[in-house]
Amino acid sequence: MNHATTSRSAMKTAAGESDPPQRTIVLAVTGASGSMLAVEMLRALEADARVGLIHLVVSPSALRVLAEETGAGGRHALIEQLLGARSTRISLLAHEDIGASIASGSYPVDAMVVLPCSMGTLAAICHGMANNLIERAADVCLKERRRLVLCVRETPLSLIHLHNMLAATQAGATVFPVVPSFYNHPQSIEEVARNYVHRVLQHIGLPQPGAFTWGAETQNTDRPTDKEQEQN
Ligand SMILES: Cc1cc2nc3c(=O)[nH]c(=O)nc-3n(C[C@H](O)[C@H](O)[C@H](O)COP(=O)(O)O)c2cc1C
Repeated sequence: MNHATTSRSAMKTAAGESDPPQRTIVLAVTGASGSMLAVEMLRALEADARVGLIHLVVSPSALRVLAEETGAGGRHALIEQLLGARSTRISLLAHEDIGASIASGSYPVDAMVVLPCSMGTLAAICHGMANNLIERAADVCLKERRRLVLCVRETPLSLIHLHNMLAATQAGATVFPVVPSFYNHPQSIEEVARNYVHRVLQHIGLPQPGAFTWGAETQNTDRPTDKEQEQN
């Protein structure tokens, strides 16, 4: 089945109105821990009918970490390795190709997510290094005032890391640390990963069906309120 064709036709409204333009998203994967989050993000973007094109850039260090954490074996057929299937709308761009489309501000991109984002890439982005395609595409997002989400992962954090996060935020990026939430009572590591990815997607204007929302259907009404607790 051609997934892309099915998704696009599903977007037609009953009234025959024209579809909203499909989004172009850049997903950059760098050499921090958290490969399963990148895979989960790729899956979600691939399945999202609002997304027309996903430009995927994977750093050499990310390939090393992917091998450690997922068993993926190098760049060859990487999308198939990660998703278990081919994709018609994910385009894998070379990390060193600073002449790729996303390296220019003239090429329209709706949002860029760096997931996971290493401290090295964070440092390079907030200092405008633009030495490879990930750094350059992020630089373009900042100069064009486009959404750039840096899903940083390191622990503990040095003063340098903290300064760099501040600089990235001041330049217009969103620092979205890889920090799990527990108030939704996740039952598995996959659920933790999915919930984190849902939060990032919501942040770039792609809220996901089934995403946990505090105060929606899962609010526990048996739990005592603050006032009741004070009275006890
Ligand atoms: C298994 C493994 C896990 C790593 N985890 C992290 C991490 O969580 N955060 C980080 O900043 N660097 C981490 N690193 C180090 C980065 O991969 C390294 O600094 C690299 O130069 C980053 O390059 P890149 O930003 O171009 O991908 C890890 C390396 C390995 C091999």
